[in-house]
Amino acid sequence: MLYVTKSFLPDLKEYVSYLERIWQSNHLTNDGPLLVELEKKLAEYLEVEHFIFVTNGTIALQLAIKALGLSGEVLTTPFSYVATTNSLIWEGCTPIFADIDPQTLTVTSKQIQDKISQQTKGILTTHVYGNAGDLDQQEIIAKAHQIPLIYDGAHAFGVRYKNKSIFSYGTVSTCSFHATKIFHTVEGGAIMTNDQALATKIKGLRSFGHKEDDYFDIGINGKNSEFHAAMGLVNLTHFPAIKAHRKWAIGVYDQLLDNPIIKLQFDANIERNYSYYPIILPSEEDLLNIISRLMEAQVKPRRYFYPSLNTLPIIQADSCPNSEDIAKRVLCLPLSSKIQEEEISKVATIIMKYFK
Ligand SMILES: Cc1ncc(COP(=O)(O)O)c(C=O)c1O
Repeated sequence: MLYVTKSFLPDLKEYVSYLERIWQSNHLTNDGPLLVELEKKLAEYLEVEHFIFVTNGTIALQLAIKALGLSGEVLTTPFSYVATTNSLIWEGCTPIFADIDPQTLTVTSKQIQDKISQQTKGILTTHVYGNAGDLDQQEIIAKAHQIPLIYDGAHAFGVRYKNKSIFSYGTVSTCSFHATKIFHTVEGGAIMTNDQALATKIKGLRSFGHKEDDYFDIGINGKNSEFHAAMGLVNLTHFPAIKAHRKWAIGVYDQLLDNPIIKLQFDANIERNYSYYPIILPSEEDLLNIISRLMEAQVKPRRYFYPSLNTLPIIQADSCPNSEDIAKRVLCLPLSSKIQEEEISKVATIIMKYFK
């Protein structure tokens, strides 16, 4: 079966060399030397002052929301993975959905401006598929309303916007390093900010609220281990090659797929990371037919993201026509650091044949 993605695994020997260091230090978790090394390297690589490694991208969102003390209405995107909305609800906030721009599939300043009100206590949107809208404008709006701007950057590792790391925008950004992500630590995530006070608060929250050894504030366990940090340190050295292979694969798809397939438009200021290959089909019926033809040929694409989050049964929200429409027609095609030309060609041929 050709799945929508295939996790990257480095040569076992490379990982074992890090395991040997863990056996020497006998330090398995709780701010061990590998974790400290990974945090330092990624802070530099991603051009952020504070990089806080945590257990996953969902806890990263929850810690960011908690540390900012958000409650009440938070403006958010309906076009993301369910973790974005769930984190808000889990932290006791009410998600208010702003519709997406039909080109970038992100919430841009126009949609934020249309939906923002006196009740809005914060903004949480997603750099979906590593794309983004007018980030400078969004910062201006958040500042004018004196509310924090959180970016769910789960898809955006290594993306640059206007020649700066995308994680340097907003009050705080998060990322996911799940095994299916372009850069992974098996399970893992991060919170990134240039705000010293916020970073200190998040570090406390990550570790049971420890202030001193025996003095506590409110907190949870969001720490990650030396074994996960080791995978990150190895995988970071492979990231340029992983990105290059995926760039090549996307180029092959782009050549083979044509009308009436719509490909995602990236903002002109974005330097991509080639993390996903979403296509937008003319109708949901076409999408369902194409999925069954691909499945017959042992190819498993993914309806990512479906459904539009404002339509989840746990939620009562206004309609978001762009997001609802795109969610019904978008399909992510197989893409990985190992995908071969014949595999891409097989997928593209099945899709183009459907429209002949
Ligand atoms: C946009 C988005 N946000 C958050 C998450 C959650 O990340 P994790 O799986 O590391 O908890 C994901 C995971 O796929 C995601 O795609």
